[in-house]
Amino acid sequence: MIRKVFAIGVMFMVTACTWAAHEVTAPQNIFARESISLNGSWHYFADPQEQGYYDYRMNPVSWGYFLNAKPQRPSDLIEYDFDASPTMQIPGDWNTQDERLFMYEGTVWFCRKFKVDSIEFRDQERTLLYFGAVNYEAIVFVNGKEVGRHIGGFTPFCFDVTDILREGENFVVVKVDNKRHRDNVPTRIFDWWNYGGITRDVLLVNVPDTYVEDYTLEVNREKGKGKTGKYCEICFSAKLNDKKADQQVTLLIPELKIEKTFTTDANGEFHSKFKIQGSKLQLWSPDNPKLYSIIIGHGEERISDEVAFRTIETRGKEILLNGEPIFLRGVCVHDESAYSNHRLRTAAESDTLIAWAKELGCNFLRLAHYPHNELTVREAERQGVLLWSEIPVYWTISWENEDTYRNAERQLTDMIRRDHNRGAIIIWSIANETPHGEARDRFLSRLATQARSLDSTRLISMAMEVLSASNYVNRLQDNMNEYVDVVSFNQYVGWYRDVHDAPHMRWEIPYDKPVIVSEFGGGAKAGLHGDVDQRWTEEFQERLYRENLAMLEKIEGLAGTCPWVLKDFRSQRRLLPGIQNLFNRKGLYSDQGEKKKAFYVLKKWYEHK
Ligand code: GCU
Repeated sequence: MIRKVFAIGVMFMVTACTWAAHEVTAPQNIFARESISLNGSWHYFADPQEQGYYDYRMNPVSWGYFLNAKPQRPSDLIEYDFDASPTMQIPGDWNTQDERLFMYEGTVWFCRKFKVDSIEFRDQERTLLYFGAVNYEAIVFVNGKEVGRHIGGFTPFCFDVTDILREGENFVVVKVDNKRHRDNVPTRIFDWWNYGGITRDVLLVNVPDTYVEDYTLEVNREKGKGKTGKYCEICFSAKLNDKKADQQVTLLIPELKIEKTFTTDANGEFHSKFKIQGSKLQLWSPDNPKLYSIIIGHGEERISDEVAFRTIETRGKEILLNGEPIFLRGVCVHDESAYSNHRLRTAAESDTLIAWAKELGCNFLRLAHYPHNELTVREAERQGVLLWSEIPVYWTISWENEDTYRNAERQLTDMIRRDHNRGAIIIWSIANETPHGEARDRFLSRLATQARSLDSTRLISMAMEVLSASNYVNRLQDNMNEYVDVVSFNQYVGWYRDVHDAPHMRWEIPYDKPVIVSEFGGGAKAGLHGDVDQRWTEEFQERLYRENLAMLEKIEGLAGTCPWVLKDFRSQRRLLPGIQNLFNRKGLYSDQGEKKKAFYVLKKWYEHK
């Protein structure tokens, strides 16, 4: 599988220090690279007191469980055994695969063996160990050596393990810890299930020594440069993992008969623009989700991808897709499967959620409150659904803590890095329902600036909030308005406040920018019927929707709505027996796909939008 690496004999003496392996940027479009999947059954066991990592003085140990040790002599004392431990499916959360771990928050150790067979690979290659996501903290060991660690449960990370792998049997051990902490991102409290584990794909990726690390292909959004009359300007840039000049990179777009070669500069990158006949290019939109197959070549490497060409911008209070105003008929959704309600892990599960949203009449999904599985992003793109993607800067983060900021910025950077070629994504969101204040403003303005520096082709937003009205006037006021392209806010008239007042409410949004109502709604237990004033009945939720939609209709510059939420979802904060049972019940669908009465109110409203 990999060119020969012999490390036999040093196995047991190694301390837990970082070896030759190191973290590398996850290559763009990882699933198009040559790789071997390490998905499947992994052995695991919980270690609530982390004794596999710390001694009784709470110092990290050199003989930890990462060694996957076996007794060598009858008298040897080894108090764990991965091979004798149960297995669970990776990718997957531990909460829904082992009922003892349903509400468990702490450390779980995972181990998987794999074979390396040198014949399969040529020299001049590197092997990267890629994780799609691990919630929350991951410490990764290969053959007993620490190769690196990562925090943040929703973005990919990658280690170069070329120099660690050996011929024959190898093993990877991951210490996963999903304990919640004040300074984390998200912080200690959040209204979704704290699914723990290796929740997305694990791959051994084979790349040449020098490979295309990243590339960008898009329509130029600069004024008059997009699709104007006869021509359309395309921007194509690429970056190698090495600063190597004079490297040839080719771009093939067979359907457009485009075949071009570009040369890297001293930094191992290039940025180019070229024109094509406007009539030739179909721009992607919900009505016509046209994708073009492309192939990027560099040396032996061939990276195929499917890209959507489209432009997105604002004009006053309008959002323009391909230069035309569009209303975003949205709904919010968590990265949780329907029916089985576990951390989403298959394309079929993405497909179900997207089909449900489309049945509602949606052309837009707010992926709340963290980067979702790439499967959902790609599926939405194939099905013509526009996307809002967000990082979990949620509620009351430690605004003054620079490590917390670095963590948030890293998650933002990795979100954009993974999905910046996905045309379906039109909005990057940097936060949800954060309290006003100087430290918060500083924190978020830095994030907004970072987002814009990484990607100037998409709209930046965040979910602000309007918590109260005075004399029925709801006024949005947020210093962050100047940093966003779209002003979005959550409001819960009819549920958390002003239950009977929606008909009297007026809204003041003093910013000349498009407005998205990024959350509104209320709870109902599917099948519970009764008086409209009776909380939790479908009739209560139905009236709430009817009145809210009529209220929102009056907002000047309303460019989109995203009710909370597509389906009931698990949350440790929802404890009402017989009604919530650890589910947030604000879904328009139940977690089993039952449509609630409010579903039809929204569907009807979207038919006219
Ligand atoms: C908040 C929050 C959601 C939460 C919802 C609710 O606005 O953004 O994450 O689930 O309200 O209270 O149901």
